[in-house]
Amino acid sequence: MTLRSRLRELVDVEHPILNAPMGGGDAPAELAAAVSEAGGLGMIGGTTAGGTKWLREQIHAVRSMTTKPFGVGLISHLPGASELMEVAIRERVPVIAHSFSDPTPFVADAHRGGAVVICQVRTIEGARQALRAGVDVVTAQGTEAGGHTGEVSTFPLVPAVVDTVAPVPVLAAGGIADGRGVAAAFMLGAEGVWLGTRFLATPEAGVSPEYRRRVLAAGPHDTVLTEVFDVATGLAWPPGVRGRAIRDTFTDRWHGHEQQLRQRVGAATDHPVGDDPVPVALYAGEAVGMISHAEPAGDVVRLLAAEAESVLWGRCSAILDAQ
Ligand SMILES: Cc1cc2nc3c(=O)[nH]c(=O)nc-3n(C[C@H](O)[C@H](O)[C@H](O)COP(=O)(O)O)c2cc1C
Repeated sequence: MTLRSRLRELVDVEHPILNAPMGGGDAPAELAAAVSEAGGLGMIGGTTAGGTKWLREQIHAVRSMTTKPFGVGLISHLPGASELMEVAIRERVPVIAHSFSDPTPFVADAHRGGAVVICQVRTIEGARQALRAGVDVVTAQGTEAGGHTGEVSTFPLVPAVVDTVAPVPVLAAGGIADGRGVAAAFMLGAEGVWLGTRFLATPEAGVSPEYRRRVLAAGPHDTVLTEVFDVATGLAWPPGVRGRAIRDTFTDRWHGHEQQLRQRVGAATDHPVGDDPVPVALYAGEAVGMISHAEPAGDVVRLLAAEAESVLWGRCSAILDAQ
């Protein structure tokens, strides 16, 4: 039994399950290759301090680990996005994803390079923009998501995006961490899922042991949607976008006091809050509360697919009354 999905008409994958292209090295070649090798669609998070050189090396590394299709995802409003996409096109990466900007300037070149184009959106206006731009797949990202995200929850956002972009297939992102979530996403009209937080806890993710430990230890109430790390680092994001991270002493101190933090950053960019540098944000979504142990990424893909299939069969026959 497999999950039927129109994503599979575009990319030759067994399971319509993607790891999110988490930037900063969190989704490196090892994660993308493991997800693809297990029948999902592995994504490299292409936006890192390593730039085009790092990305080229990661693409080659994926190809040394699997012959299956994979993709590259970019934070497209940041400088250097076009150069990174150019690398992906030259290397003939089969799937290219854009987030956080209007994808219009990127789509024609990606299509000329033969890539399937995905765009992640957080609003209906974003979904309309992606549709007009001619992308092949739209990811609807709910506010539960880890990392930078918007304000609408996955449950109301996904069906609204499905209706807005039909017949373009939609992937659901945000708060999905087990087979029940995957099944629910399909019930909302999604054709696949795009998960970040669940894959953060896998050994293939490029996070520190302490980061992984915090993901495993956190409960569903332990994240905060906040601007404080962006204020402290001076990184700009589109309006309505903030970062969801595991709460720590930095967020406890500054969340709700952004104006004060802004003033301090203006005075001392490197060390805005005293002698210590800005702590590393532990970006993660509300789904942290559903993750209690670290499993290999390939096992996660196979488990999610099997659980979703059995939930869809089992629940539908248990709750539907034929009369
Ligand atoms: C650590 C982390 C880093 C992320 N980095 C990116 C990124 O670079 N580009 C992007 O489009 N989305 C990024 N995201 C958001 C994901 O694409 C995705 O929407 C989210 O992880 C889905 O929700 P979930 O975390 O509940 O699975 C990141 C998410 C996390 C947790």
